[in-house]
Amino acid sequence: MNKKIIIFNWKMAPNSLREAQTLAELTRKYAEKMKSQKDVIVAAPFVYLENLSNMRRLNLQKIELAAQNLFWANPPTGGAYTGEISAKMLKNVGVKYVIIGHSERRKYLSETDEMINKKIKTALKAGLKVVLCVGEPKRESGIKGTSKAKNYVKKQLKNDLKDVNKSSVVGRKSLIGNILIAYEPVWSISTGTSGKTCKPEDALEMIEFIKSLVAGRWSLVGPVLYGGSVDSKNITDFLKHEEIDGVLVGAASLKPKEVEKILK
Ligand code: PGA
Repeated sequence: MNKKIIIFNWKMAPNSLREAQTLAELTRKYAEKMKSQKDVIVAAPFVYLENLSNMRRLNLQKIELAAQNLFWANPPTGGAYTGEISAKMLKNVGVKYVIIGHSERRKYLSETDEMINKKIKTALKAGLKVVLCVGEPKRESGIKGTSKAKNYVKKQLKNDLKDVNKSSVVGRKSLIGNILIAYEPVWSISTGTSGKTCKPEDALEMIEFIKSLVAGRWSLVGPVLYGGSVDSKNITDFLKHEEIDGVLVGAASLKPKEVEKILK
């Protein structure tokens, strides 16, 4: 079985550096106790990344850091983009991954596929690994619903990965492992297990579809993860499938007990 990947997306939390450090430390502790080998990645808000990166150098090696966004311009000496964070800034503070195209940014900040495409290229050029989020906003039942959802995701991938090819990656000949895809059906995000959640079999079907698409059309084979209300109760239902390479966990990543159980 492939080594599974667990990404904890803290979103816009916690409120203080102290809490962020405590949570990171806890996550490291439980990551070290894991029985099976897994890659654990923490996607923290920008303001904590440098500090967590320094902590990481000292004793957090068990976890990697991700940013939750970046800006596409990468001028050599800054640029006129007030409020934005560049790929180089992230790279220079020791961040390895960046989430791009999360549905919350697509929805609340009107991020388009065109913007996402630019961000992906900028991140790859700077030597960052990309976690690209895709997923349909709603799902109708039955075969028709599934095929509509597949078409939606296919279109997102086509636009988001436009002209992304081997030459997009600096110093490496392959895209393999440089782009991870997280299938996150939007209707299943932040609903909790009591709400509307994606069935593992449906996630599996979409992930197999995504893998066949990216392998055939963009000669891009990377891990494909599932995200959307994953917690300690349902994580095994997803990860038991060989083809599901990992999970992207949101709300549960802020609850220490959940983090412990998830990594167990
Ligand atoms: P959730 O978030 O686990 O709270 O649904 C997943 C995500 O970060 O998209």
